[in-house]
Amino acid sequence: MHQFQRTLVTTALPYANGPVHLGHLAGVYLPADIYVRYKRLKGEDVIHIGGSDEHGVPITITAEKEGISPQDVVDRYHSMNLEAFSKCGISFDYYGRTTSELHHATAQEFFLDIEGKGIFTKKTEKLFFDRKADRFLSDRYVTGTCPICNNPEANGDQCEQCGTHLSPLELINPKSKLSDATPELRETMHWYFPLGRFQERLEEYVNSHEEDWRQNVVNYSRTWLKQGLNDRAITRDLGWGIKVPIEGEESFGKVLYVWFDAVLGYISFTREWAAKLGESERWREYWQDPESRLVHFIGKDNVVFHTLMFPAILMAWNEGRQSGCYNLADNVPASEFMNFEGRKFSKSRNYAVYLGEFLEKFSADTLRYTIAMNYPENKDTDFSWQDYQNRTNGELADTLGNFIKRSVDFTNARFDGAVPWECTTEEWNSLGINWPDTLQQLDLAFEQFHFREATSLGMDIARVANRFLTESEPWKAIKSDREAAARAMALSLNLCHALSVALYPVIPETCNSIYAMLGFQGSIEDRFVRGSSLTASLLQPALPKGHKLREKSEILFKKLEDADIAPELRKIEGLLAEAEKREAGAEQSRMEFKPEISFDDFLKVDLRVATVLSAETVKKAGKLLKLKLQVGSATRDVLAGIARYYTPEEMVGKNVVLVANLADRTIRDEVSEGMILAVEGEDGKLFVVEPAGNEINGRQIQ
Ligand code: MF3
Ligand code: ZN
Repeated sequence: MHQFQRTLVTTALPYANGPVHLGHLAGVYLPADIYVRYKRLKGEDVIHIGGSDEHGVPITITAEKEGISPQDVVDRYHSMNLEAFSKCGISFDYYGRTTSELHHATAQEFFLDIEGKGIFTKKTEKLFFDRKADRFLSDRYVTGTCPICNNPEANGDQCEQCGTHLSPLELINPKSKLSDATPELRETMHWYFPLGRFQERLEEYVNSHEEDWRQNVVNYSRTWLKQGLNDRAITRDLGWGIKVPIEGEESFGKVLYVWFDAVLGYISFTREWAAKLGESERWREYWQDPESRLVHFIGKDNVVFHTLMFPAILMAWNEGRQSGCYNLADNVPASEFMNFEGRKFSKSRNYAVYLGEFLEKFSADTLRYTIAMNYPENKDTDFSWQDYQNRTNGELADTLGNFIKRSVDFTNARFDGAVPWECTTEEWNSLGINWPDTLQQLDLAFEQFHFREATSLGMDIARVANRFLTESEPWKAIKSDREAAARAMALSLNLCHALSVALYPVIPETCNSIYAMLGFQGSIEDRFVRGSSLTASLLQPALPKGHKLREKSEILFKKLEDADIAPELRKIEGLLAEAEKREAGAEQSRMEFKPEISFDDFLKVDLRVATVLSAETVKKAGKLLKLKLQVGSATRDVLAGIARYYTPEEMVGKNVVLVANLADRTIRDEVSEGMILAVEGEDGKLFVVEPAGNEINGRQIQ
């Protein structure tokens, strides 16, 4: 692998519209912090840049819900998240905000550069406008009836009930969420980034990382590439965000699309970091020197923004430049999700444990360790209180904590608080640990983002150490063979030191405590020297004979009693009960019948048996099948939102029930001439109603 001179690590910028929860920590911030701390330990040049994503519709929606300004929202959650991260030991070199002046300037500079090169395209489209609120309505601000399943509360971008991705124009009876007014269509012009223009270069880029990127990252990216990349609108009609830096009417009321600005935050924040150091040009080393390595830690839902969109924006900037070109990411370790007690974390449903709240009751390192051991590297994992308690008590308290305390206490009591023996390298290698191998395994695990494995390797050392101390029984030996006891204690103390190094990236606060108990002044961080690796210190016994310990030991981990986690379990029960209630409520509303209609009303509906002649999926509408139906001597084209439940082949030849006298409707530029009946089963799965029998095609149902 190429040896880079320095590494720039970025973490996805969380929206500052709510507190970060343990799922975020597990997928992005903890793995990044472990990686960065490991690199510092090795004496490498590395910085970790993150910050708050403070623009976009998620922020304005929260503001409206709470009746406060968007600025209030981002102020509140920026400080809240920053504080929670710092309590958790996430060691950012800089944690910025996308509302900062320098960020606005940076994003506008990119926009103008790309605009100046004539790369953007502009398109005029019709968008809903709310006259009362005097605003264009972005997708999420429109609600109405879903054209697929008739859910009366579908959102402009998606129907939650049937999952169909919609455009607001497809909604029946659209309403503005801002004022309840019926919105009107108005023309508006937007800037588009032509992703397709970069198709080949992006393919090459992704291909070149086939070997070193995670499978899911390559796959997600390729799925997009295979479909062919389209133009993406990068401006919005919205009052909150970075103004489109163009004079005049055409940019009036328009801001940059939040994703266009957010990814550039990585750059602005690195600039702010450098400025704060008083070396305002230093950021260029990390972004523009090809000897720098760029690594983005993200969750799996953000992959294509980091493997296609952002690289394409940088390619656009780099075009026609000899100098000042940006590096593309060398790796994008995207995580799967960590669930919570068997269910998905959900901010909107408040089904979550928030990081700040957690740390008010429990310690950062116990959380970091448990999460590292459940790192969702290749598959979704689960956080449970039971697992948290077991690991804290069994692995951290009984194994690691107990070993350290026994080693330090016994030395203090019986050997005057000094290392009583000069360990040789032979002795060091006689413990059943092959140090060169262990070091290499550790290095590979950290460098290749296998953080669960890296953490296990550290805990394995603790297990060996704990067993060694127990089996050598220095408290007995000291009576008959003082030298044997001295040798055992010297080895144990050196193992304490080795553990403080090996586990430092995962549980830094604990390791600094171990280090202090071993009698060192300052913290492990104080020993960091560029170009010299502390992990190499594992190869030799590090503590010479006579090295003085600190007199007092401390308890590293307090055991978690059942009573400590009982309130948390009760809270979960409450949350789960709420979820059940919601589901029961849905059941009840299913049992509420629609208002009565007359027999004549019913007779107005013309239901016919029809046979499916052919079926195909609809491009750009993944949930829809387009069916050609035979109804007596006529044929009809009908769209049905069943693509997730039936393949086109399965549908051909089926008899279905057609509402034959329904007015035509246009969905995704396709006309649907009627609709077919289906029933909803478990999990919203749809079953098409199938009348049995031959020769009934075209017959009326009565
Ligand atoms: N705010 C986005 C989210 O929470 C992530 C933005 S990552 C960035 O999903 F790179 F674009 F900033
Ligand atoms: Zn729907």
